Amino acid sequence: DKGNHRHFMAKEIHEQPEVVGRTLAHYVDMAGGRIALPGPLPFEFAKLSRLSITACGTAFYAGLVAKYWFETIARLPVEIDVASETRYREPPLESGGLTLVISQSGETADTLASLRYAKAQGQHTLSVVNVPTSTIARESSAVMPTLAGPEIGVASTKAFSCQLTVLLCLAIAAGRARGTIDAARERALVDALITVPGLMAESVTMEPQVETLAREIAKARDVLYLGRGTSYPMALEGALKLKEISYIHAEGYAAGELKHGPIALIDESVPVIVIAPHDAIFEKTVSNMQEVAARGGKIILVGDARGAAAAGLDTLATLTMPDVDPVVAPIVYAVPVQLIAYHTAVFMGKDVDQPRNLAKSVTVE
Ligand code: F6R
Repeated sequence: DKGNHRHFMAKEIHEQPEVVGRTLAHYVDMAGGRIALPGPLPFEFAKLSRLSITACGTAFYAGLVAKYWFETIARLPVEIDVASETRYREPPLESGGLTLVISQSGETADTLASLRYAKAQGQHTLSVVNVPTSTIARESSAVMPTLAGPEIGVASTKAFSCQLTVLLCLAIAAGRARGTIDAARERALVDALITVPGLMAESVTMEPQVETLAREIAKARDVLYLGRGTSYPMALEGALKLKEISYIHAEGYAAGELKHGPIALIDESVPVIVIAPHDAIFEKTVSNMQEVAARGGKIILVGDARGAAAAGLDTLATLTMPDVDPVVAPIVYAVPVQLIAYHTAVFMGKDVDQPRNLAKSVTVE
């Protein structure tokens, strides 16, 4: 049932404040200002020397964001790869170590094969899955569920934001266990998490502006997405969402990589979507935007008012996001990233819920 939405994807984008809120309620002791994981862990974060993460597609990008969180909050080194590479590369994995797999469906063939490989190496396996009865959930030593509810649209939206939510909770729990954050820092992180559903709801109100912008993006043959830090995986996710439902060629890049190649593509016909909350590395991204502007590139800034003022650049459009704690920015910024792809594809008359050549659950290699 799509409710009063035209597509499941629209419904699922709009549902995010609610399902992220529900997921948070499952992982956060609100009164205590701390994370309370819904189940016991069969390993100790404090004893890990590294964490291996594997997943496919959008779930892989959630894992890339989580790498920043685990490394900064819990000082836990993270190795991450797409599951189709992990399974055949057969990386050396320490017995007693931890592999984390992320999957909406819990049935993705490559992710399942990587999970089985990790188990065969004597690793503990922790899965973040949306379907609790799935094969991946059943075969993992521990499951941390996302409470997104059934996701029908082929392009993952609400499962992604719920994956990010669970992964941040896990990184905070790991930080506490490893003594890299104190109770005050944990409370501050929890306070930031609690603001997320409201901020996502606020972000959805930009929809009319995104619809107008989508008409411009629809004219492009190629679109570049740039971001730094946790906004880098969000740039990758933005490009994936746009290409899979609008069939416009899109690439996501770490903003700092611009001058190492992609800058050659910049001209007035290539929109450059810059994902840039006003965080500690914002100034670095501004210099990349200046490089784009100097070559006549059309910048679409997805940022906040402070950032837009500090950048002081002419943009084709600025999607002004609410102020967010930079730690939780990827979860909130998922909304504009998804809306851009959705409205571009709808304007172009594409079947956003059933894009060509794609299946919701990829159970074969
Ligand atoms: C993109 C998308 C896919 C999936 C990928 C993994 O919008 O939906 O990239 O994220 O096929 O699927 P799961 O999470 O079911 O393992």
